[in-house]
Amino acid sequence: MRDRDDQDRSGPGFSRRDFLRGSAAAATATAMATQGTEETAAANVKANVFAAAAQNVTLNVNGKDHTVKVEPRVTLLHVLRNDLNLTGCKEVDERSADGADTVMIDGKAVLAGSRLAIECEGKKILTVESLRSGEKVDEVISGFVKHDAMQCGFCTPGFVVATRVFLNKNPKASLAEIRKGLGGNICRCGTYQGITQCALELAKGGK
Ligand code: FES
Repeated sequence: MRDRDDQDRSGPGFSRRDFLRGSAAAATATAMATQGTEETAAANVKANVFAAAAQNVTLNVNGKDHTVKVEPRVTLLHVLRNDLNLTGCKEVDERSADGADTVMIDGKAVLAGSRLAIECEGKKILTVESLRSGEKVDEVISGFVKHDAMQCGFCTPGFVVATRVFLNKNPKASLAEIRKGLGGNICRCGTYQGITQCALELAKGGK
């Protein structure tokens, strides 16, 4: 008498029992692979683990070391604004999609709201406040004023830092390159014309 296994055979050489055996083997392999992945993930987390409690972090900002006590989850933007009272960089949205929180870290334009403060230890952080010394201001700032490159001014500090970084790297940039290079910053007032004119003038040697 044929057993049910044979009756369920769906084709030559492949029975219902074969199918169940195969499924069990696949499930075991998947479980082993998952376990391996979880162990690897756990090991990775362990290697980079930080205590959730607040801890001392020393940040070099605008040429000075500042030690602040912050939780590892706290962003650089939060520390700059709330612990160091450097309010030039702005928080517009928590994804830093607009560039209003742009600062300079080791010469690069970085969105402070998307960096954890603990990641920035040992780096040189410059905010827009560093571009002024007494009555003397960076030519990007005076260029913004000259070209009337702001309205409400909320995006302006981020734009000024982004422009400074861009011109440092591209001192002879064209208008197209300027537009592309500053494309990560958004101005809701629409002052792009003044900003690009400022950058273009400075790229040509300034006046
Ligand atoms: Fe208002 Fe740019 S000047 S958002």
